[in-house]
Amino acid sequence: MINVGIDSIAVYTSRYALDLETLAAARGIDADKYFIGLGQHKMSVPPPGEDIVTMAANAALSVLEDIDISSIDMLIFATESAFDQSKASGLYLHQLLGLPSRCRTFELKQACYGGTAAIQLALPYLREHPDKKVLVVTSDIAHYGLGTTGESSQGAGAAAMVLSVDPRIAVIERHSGFVSESVMDFWRPNYLHEALVEGKYSSKLYLTMLEKTWKEYCVLSGRNFSDHQYFCYHAPVPRLVEKAHQNLLKWNQVEIAEEEWMRDINCSLHYGRLTGNSYTASLYIGLASLLDLVDDDLAGKRVGFYSYGSGLAAEYFSAVIQSGYRDVLKTDYHQVLLASRQMLSYEEYETFYRYAYPEDGSLLDVPVYNTGSFRMTKIENHKRNYEKLDAPPLSVIVNEEEDFAGQLRARAQVS
Ligand code: HMG
Repeated sequence: MINVGIDSIAVYTSRYALDLETLAAARGIDADKYFIGLGQHKMSVPPPGEDIVTMAANAALSVLEDIDISSIDMLIFATESAFDQSKASGLYLHQLLGLPSRCRTFELKQACYGGTAAIQLALPYLREHPDKKVLVVTSDIAHYGLGTTGESSQGAGAAAMVLSVDPRIAVIERHSGFVSESVMDFWRPNYLHEALVEGKYSSKLYLTMLEKTWKEYCVLSGRNFSDHQYFCYHAPVPRLVEKAHQNLLKWNQVEIAEEEWMRDINCSLHYGRLTGNSYTASLYIGLASLLDLVDDDLAGKRVGFYSYGSGLAAEYFSAVIQSGYRDVLKTDYHQVLLASRQMLSYEEYETFYRYAYPEDGSLLDVPVYNTGSFRMTKIENHKRNYEKLDAPPLSVIVNEEEDFAGQLRARAQVS
């Protein structure tokens, strides 16, 4: 039996964010609707010059820090925010990261499920090619529109993962429950920049498909609730995840105090509470959040994963965390990233939101904002141009920062 799974994981999100208290004030809504009703505190807002490619490149740069890139012969870019119908977003990344030319690069789409599809495709490939590694990147920007009910569940982020045989972080187990159905709960026709959504219907389907995939997963794996110590969910809004986990307890006749079941999921939700929905990346930002923040030693512990992509495809699967996993985490990088973002005023948020790239082929020199180690420099003749910057990656400056790790860990325990 060859073990395959996640060897390294890093996440990235915009250096700018909107506190939902600011949004609530602008919309004349009680902020507790967002903080308590949705469990969401902030949302990342990409500035001009930041897109799915720059976010993915930043996450990938960090994840590849100690990886021999000559062993990567497949790059799968999962996204639902692609800007080209033909060219895969991963090809920009392939060049920015200097990956080997002998590398299969392609894009996958199925709403928020795309990242899970990429991982599940990569695992049998690695069993066949145990000397190779696969880079999976998930990167998305969630846009619903100013003043819409979905607005407070916007966000942005990327997660990059190196998958390999004998992975250092998590062995992904073979059994999954999965389902596909054609429904219209959330969709974005090519000619629209913002998603259309039936919010309540989508939340209902999220829960229905959890029950279906969980039950199938349990039958196929022979496991039950108590075989899992922690749980990661796709997190469009954290409150929906709390409801989903309560349902999971009910279906499994598990009666435990709220404090106890919140411990199952709370650390995994923390980064998402600060970034907002990042679609394909959301579940894996949740995994990074759990690994970084939980005090418990996770070695040998099993984590349950629920992946849901509107439209719809959903999957329940599991992974076992490996001993020594803490040595390869990017905890400091993630925490400096989240704790040092610039909070936007409402007017700045709206300016970023309304910033539009030309669609007529004209030249645009993109203004300079903090976009990490990569930026989109210009658009010309319908072509996006990117550059890698000399700025040191965040991890280089971490020692000069405050103890963000301690602060965030403390906040995750109490929130
Ligand atoms: P909404 O209209 O913003 O919220 O919709 P609401 O009116 O239903 O209120 C939410 C909760 O806040 C309610 O509690 C209220 O009582 C409470 P609940 O009944 O749910 O227990 N509330 C308050 N609590 C405290 N103090 C107050 C207060 N006021 C109200 N003052 C919704 C929420 C998520 C539907 C909306 O944001 C939306 O449409 N978002 C986009 C779609 C979405 O996220 N769907 C989730 C499942 S689909 C999915 O996960 C796929 C997706 O990621 C896309 C993909 O796959 O690519 C979206």
